[in-house]
Amino acid sequence: MSQTERSPVGIKTPKSPATGVSVSVVHVPKKSEYTDDYTNKTLYLPGPTEVREEVTEAMAQPMFGHRMDRMTDLYTTIVEDTKEFLDTEQEVIILTASGTEFWEATTLNLVDERMLVPTSGAFSERQANVAERLGKTVDRVEYEWGRAVRPDDIRAALESSDEGYDAVGMVMNETSTGVRNPVEAVGDLLGEYPDTYFIVDAISCLGGDYIDIDAHNVDAIFTSTQKAFAMPPGLAVCTVSDAAYERELEKESASWYGGFQRCLDYYDRKGQTHSTPAIPLMLAYRVQMKHMLAEGHQQRDRRHREMAEYTREWAREQFGLFPEAGYESQSVTCVENTRGIDVAETIETISAEYDMVFSSGYGSLSEESFRIGHMGEHTVDSVRALTDAIEDVAGL
Ligand SMILES: Cc1ncc(COP(=O)(O)O)c(C=O)c1O
Repeated sequence: MSQTERSPVGIKTPKSPATGVSVSVVHVPKKSEYTDDYTNKTLYLPGPTEVREEVTEAMAQPMFGHRMDRMTDLYTTIVEDTKEFLDTEQEVIILTASGTEFWEATTLNLVDERMLVPTSGAFSERQANVAERLGKTVDRVEYEWGRAVRPDDIRAALESSDEGYDAVGMVMNETSTGVRNPVEAVGDLLGEYPDTYFIVDAISCLGGDYIDIDAHNVDAIFTSTQKAFAMPPGLAVCTVSDAAYERELEKESASWYGGFQRCLDYYDRKGQTHSTPAIPLMLAYRVQMKHMLAEGHQQRDRRHREMAEYTREWAREQFGLFPEAGYESQSVTCVENTRGIDVAETIETISAEYDMVFSSGYGSLSEESFRIGHMGEHTVDSVRALTDAIEDVAGL
């Protein structure tokens, strides 16, 4: 008999082995009615982030069918514009999903048995965990939270492995610690290991931190739209190298939904997605991607660097920085709470009095640090408005 059963609201509650009676071990939330009566807040989260009104409004259109010509126009526009923006010859898949889908899909598509994952925070740990759940053997190169991955450690792990690895999976921007990992250098050394594919989670930075995808042996790099693309959540974007596409063709255990072959062949034949996409989100994507192209990837990168430099300087003056020096993220600054302010209360007060929202530290770091997302549409001035508010509320 199964050790678990579903409660009426779909939350698993284990059965007591002795009595077989379900015991509730999780908080079952009561319905709290959505009222449409909420104050809008300016988002300085590590995603979702601010979305232009014009982009949000683009979603409110009469519906059309996903097999209509209009859909072909829409999907081919957003895919080709994305390739141009990302400055890559690789193929691009845009799927209705959050970025998490591509942790699963890239693992299923590229990893037969063994994967190497450097872990240095919550998201890289989760990438490793996803692969384990999918039955893969995962070797970790573990770092203390706040430290960056060292390419030499990856080389040493590759060298010391008898069987080798099907893929290295790596988080470019560790959102939990504000660390920007040197994925380019790791990709460069992977050029010496042609049988090892390189999977990059760039979820919290792509579009705000330039990476030359084609120059660093990246086989798949993915993001979620609610981060530096500054779109609503609900779409995930992944580029795929020719080698990764070919590799998947050899495998029978590839992802169905996120199968490179299925997605890209369908695009080639029909200019559409294999199943019904979130059409309103793609309408929003079209409008925002035009803005991103007009600004240009390099300029967007510069703007994000300026925001990051401003935020870091402020953090050094007022508090400290959590990530190791020289590896700070360009889209999320993780501030070390050296003054011991009450982070939760500060966030709450700033939300109530200034209608701005930022993040506490991740998990057990919730009071030890706090995180400012400076991505997407933000500017140095908009970030300064938040740091001024923090100074006011914390009495700095
Ligand atoms: C580095 C990283 N990877 C993966 C995820 C998961 O992304 P999503 O919630 O869009 O699936 C996040 C979300 O914050 C992230 O920051």
